[in-house]
Amino acid sequence: MDPQLELKNVTKRFGGVAAVDGVTFAIGKGEILGVIGPNGAGKTTLLNCISGVYRLDDGDVRWQGASIAGLAPFRVARLGIGRTFQIVKPFTSMTVRENVVAGALFGSDEERPRLGAAFGRADSVLELVGLRSKADLPVSALTIPDRKRLEVARAVATRPKLLLLDEVMAGLNSVEIDDALEMVRAVHESGVTVVLIEHVMRVIVGVCARVVVLDVGRVLADGPPDVVLRDERVIQAYLGERYARRLRGS
Ligand SMILES: Nc1ncnc2c1ncn2[C@@H]1O[C@H](COP(=O)(O)OP(=O)(O)OP(=O)(O)O)[C@@H](O)[C@H]1O
Ligand SMILES: [Mg+2]
Repeated sequence: MDPQLELKNVTKRFGGVAAVDGVTFAIGKGEILGVIGPNGAGKTTLLNCISGVYRLDDGDVRWQGASIAGLAPFRVARLGIGRTFQIVKPFTSMTVRENVVAGALFGSDEERPRLGAAFGRADSVLELVGLRSKADLPVSALTIPDRKRLEVARAVATRPKLLLLDEVMAGLNSVEIDDALEMVRAVHESGVTVVLIEHVMRVIVGVCARVVVLDVGRVLADGPPDVVLRDERVIQAYLGERYARRLRGS
């Protein structure tokens, strides 16, 4: 594996309690990695440690061989690490297209695109996420699933090499999840490494070749979904017996 991102003993404490506690693993270029675990396991905090929102209390984050620990979020983004937020944060006074143009202009390229190119880029990303027909609507007119798509589009428009997605499929129905899965596959096929935090196991099994399970801030398991989701410790800590029985039945 050619490691693109390396987490070494990543630790983040809140008031003495470790939300992320000595997490070590690497992500290879071109992977789609699932990150799962119970509520409060530290998934979002880990993502915030990678994207520069939090300063680490211990450990290191290395991007393409160099440490990025301590960099401001916008610097991390410009290195090519894009992300979405679990609580979506669109610019509500702007149209769908303008939101994505803002992402394109922010962009990770050394040379920022001109405005015309940014609009072109925005439209191709909107096509990719299935929002092209809604480009001229104000964000306030979007449904929740469309807002999630927009959140992904905004992040993709920055041209990330690595995209961190935090529960972009939460609250979607089964048909919407299928669409969202297609969207993630399309982004991945365009050459982007993807880290996907999700509670929906169908999503994890559907797109991830590898899953990391977090529990109380630590890595509980790391491997292919068919192994990890059958791991007794993962069933105990997270999936529960009902899921395990269903899995055995299938
Ligand atoms: N800013 C903060 N200040 C204090 N404690 C925090 C903060 N952010 C997270 N925590 C705590 O850190 C732990 C990990 O939270 P985190 O949000 O990373 O979990 P998560 O795995 O993303 O959960 P969920 O699946 O519910 O999104 C929790 O105990 C949470 O209460
Ligand atoms: Mg979270």
